[in-house]
Amino acid sequence: MKLHALCYCSVRKGSHETLLDEIHDILEVAKKFNNKHNVTGVLYYSGGRFFQYIEGLERVIEDLFDRIAVDPRHHYVHYFGTRAIQKRRFNGWSMKYVQRNSRVELFFKNRGEKTLMSLGLNDSNLSDFLDELVLAEQDTLPKK
Ligand SMILES: Cc1cc2nc3c(=O)[nH]c(=O)nc-3n(C[C@H](O)[C@H](O)[C@H](O)COP(=O)(O)O)c2cc1C
Repeated sequence: MKLHALCYCSVRKGSHETLLDEIHDILEVAKKFNNKHNVTGVLYYSGGRFFQYIEGLERVIEDLFDRIAVDPRHHYVHYFGTRAIQKRRFNGWSMKYVQRNSRVELFFKNRGEKTLMSLGLNDSNLSDFLDELVLAEQDTLPKK
């Protein structure tokens, strides 16, 4: 079976006060499941919005996405599609977590935009954005 990847962006529902706990919880569950099912990828959070890219076997990532899409912690889930890939970009990361940082900031600035939403992802800049996320430092959350 061939490797596939999918991605989406969404709007977080919760208040600012619950953000850290919520991301903690998401990553804890994600790392456990993804490790077990050979799923890798990245979760990016900035300004109330999530962007997630998930790689693995097609059936596995689509079933996972079906669950994520109905998760009550976010809404307005915009699915960009699933496609076959030759190799993983996030090999070794069961779910890398990246927040807005100077590197990502510069990525948007160089394109005359401020956010992922205003940029609007398409085939060419999606690949560039993922390259940035591969290179970006992984954010570590303080322990609960
Ligand atoms: C933004 C976001 C990203 C998520 N990413 C993952 C993930 O990569 N892997 C995972 O197993 N769960 C992830 N979850 C959690 C799932 O939505 C869901 O809570 C989890 O799969 C447990 O589902 P269940 O309660 O139906 O068993 C994510 C949730 C959100 C809100």
